[in-house]
Amino acid sequence: MHSFEKLLSNNKDWSKSRQAFEPDFFKKLVELQTPEFLWIGCSDSRVPTNEITGTQPGEIFVHRNIANLVIDTDVNLLSVLYYAVNILKVKHVIVCGHYGCGGIKAAMSNSDFKQILNMWLRKIKDVYKDNSEELDQISDLEKRENRLTELNVIEQVRRLMKTSIIQKAWKDRQAPDLHGWVYSLNDGIINPIYHLKAGEEVDALYRYDDL
Ligand code: CO
Repeated sequence: MHSFEKLLSNNKDWSKSRQAFEPDFFKKLVELQTPEFLWIGCSDSRVPTNEITGTQPGEIFVHRNIANLVIDTDVNLLSVLYYAVNILKVKHVIVCGHYGCGGIKAAMSNSDFKQILNMWLRKIKDVYKDNSEELDQISDLEKRENRLTELNVIEQVRRLMKTSIIQKAWKDRQAPDLHGWVYSLNDGIINPIYHLKAGEEVDALYRYDDL
């Protein structure tokens, strides 16, 4: 059996056991998805959204990329954000990074990862640069990586707040709240490190008054 065939056979088993557990499970999901959460996480295979949050299909709308970045020219991210906020009307947007993130480590190195990856990782280098005073004081490399992981998550949450998508939703329906979390590969625990409640004061330069 090829490795990918195992996935298809697992899938058949899963479908069967899911229906045995809850006979109208798929019927309900086909009719409607009403997730309360948008998850912006890392693509890393060790951080599976539903599994680590104990949630089922239908509960979390998911976008993942390397090192969970919010980039304001990323049409993919912005489409997901727009749809989640305006159509699904999620109540919470969660940016979840993870300690031991390969993207963070790569961005802290001086290696050339070739054009496309260099472009992506540069956004993380910029977060380092903005916080270099604090980070340079941490002599232990792993601790410095961990702190950059946290600062990166905080920066991505703040970038969400700068979008007109979030600002308009805050004005119209006082939601969603924005959360910054970091997951630990060592013990599987999520550390909530940052929270912006809907309606939080937006830096004057980034505030849209005429939404
Ligand atoms: Co990662």
